[in-house]
Amino acid sequence: MNLTMDKIVNLCKTRGFVFPGSDIYGGFANTWDFGPIGVELKNNIKRAWWKRFVQESDNTYGVDSAILMNPKVWEASGHVASFSDPKMDCKNCKTRHRADNLIEAYSKGKVNAEAMTNEGMEQYIADNDIKCPNCGKRDWTPIRQFKLMFETSRGTIDGEKDVIYLRPETCQGEYVNFLNVQRTARAKIPFAIAQIGKSFRNEITPGNFLFRTVEFEQMELQMFCKEDSSMDIYNSYKEQALKFVQDLGLSQDHLRFHDHDKLAHYAKAACDIQYLFPIGWQELNGIHHRGTWDLSRHEQFSGKSLQYLDPFTNERYIPNIIEYSIGADRLALALLCEAYDEELLEQGDTRVVMHFHPAIAPYKVAVLPLQKNLADKAQEVLNKLNKYFMCTYDEAGSIGKRYRRQDEIGTPYCVTIDFDTLEDNTVTIRERDSMKQIRLDIDKLVQYVSEKIMF
Ligand code: GAP
Repeated sequence: MNLTMDKIVNLCKTRGFVFPGSDIYGGFANTWDFGPIGVELKNNIKRAWWKRFVQESDNTYGVDSAILMNPKVWEASGHVASFSDPKMDCKNCKTRHRADNLIEAYSKGKVNAEAMTNEGMEQYIADNDIKCPNCGKRDWTPIRQFKLMFETSRGTIDGEKDVIYLRPETCQGEYVNFLNVQRTARAKIPFAIAQIGKSFRNEITPGNFLFRTVEFEQMELQMFCKEDSSMDIYNSYKEQALKFVQDLGLSQDHLRFHDHDKLAHYAKAACDIQYLFPIGWQELNGIHHRGTWDLSRHEQFSGKSLQYLDPFTNERYIPNIIEYSIGADRLALALLCEAYDEELLEQGDTRVVMHFHPAIAPYKVAVLPLQKNLADKAQEVLNKLNKYFMCTYDEAGSIGKRYRRQDEIGTPYCVTIDFDTLEDNTVTIRERDSMKQIRLDIDKLVQYVSEKIMF
């Protein structure tokens, strides 16, 4: 099977996973709305991440910090000064490109454009006759720095508005709450702060469906630690991050580590986990050893001490930070790509099936009465199950068609109510991947499904 992004986009639109943003107005570039099936998928992904990294950890604490932060935060973080990309427009076809990406693609990664000035990049592009990848012409505007933070303003009196920013990453909310969390949770280093929330970036080259959008959700965790244990913790998060996505169903053949050669001046190590998307190997998440940079900068800009007092040694110090960051939408896209399958069945038909891990499947159970006059009993079963899991109900069309509909949205279990159900209180439960069916007592359904969907 040749998996293309178009197939995934098409399935998502037609089955209710994801719709184009502001659809009735012709869309709004690179924004997407999660539909009834997609919102369940994304919520389940976020829940699985939270369970693994917060609930099952004895030293990780959650927060949900404000999207709008004091603008000084973004000065301290370096975003105001340098969160921008060098952009060039093609005058011929009007497409917009990042100059550093053009150079890196042309030189096949051999030239480090990040180390060049804008003038240096313009010269390199002219000397090497680098053309627009869209139209093949070389008719570039000069490079201009393109700010990646969305600005808005706060203030009610005309002319007295303060510029504020939509956060481009969630982690700053974790840094500024370092001492609040440490004190109230009586946390001892090493400990971590985690959060899930929306981030916004005015990306120059968004696209590829959910891969790069201007508004997205991040699941981020910052582990505060002592320098001498920081490299071990960094390596441990690399392994934990890999295991998490493997446990959710991403195949080892589609995953690889990509250790960074070029590091930010403050960073001690950085690594992405890449996934083999239909568009090629791309970053799925990042693990960064950020040293003491973030807390030192916030200490400097806020004027508040962010030193940790070690209760055992009485030592005071700024902890090192290991960051693990993954986009919920990007992970949803990877899981959609991994789950998609077109299976040839014995009768010669093809079925499209989404092999989601049951824990992230949008619906856990579909309740299907064999005939419409079994609807009352089916509703009774549905009402029993939907106290525990997200379920769906379908009485339209042949049972085969209804199974196919559930396969396409990845429902792991279909429960069929037939005339025997009225006699002996049993139902047929059909498993999505094997298509095997067993007979089960209605009173055992909740326990049976609960065990199967555990993550
Ligand atoms: N705090 C660190 C940070 O934000 P990042 O590598 O810029 O690091 C982390 O982003 C993760 O967020 C990425 O690995 C990706 O999964 C997701 N992400 C970043 N930009 C994105 C975008 N424009 N659209 C969708 N997901 C994005």
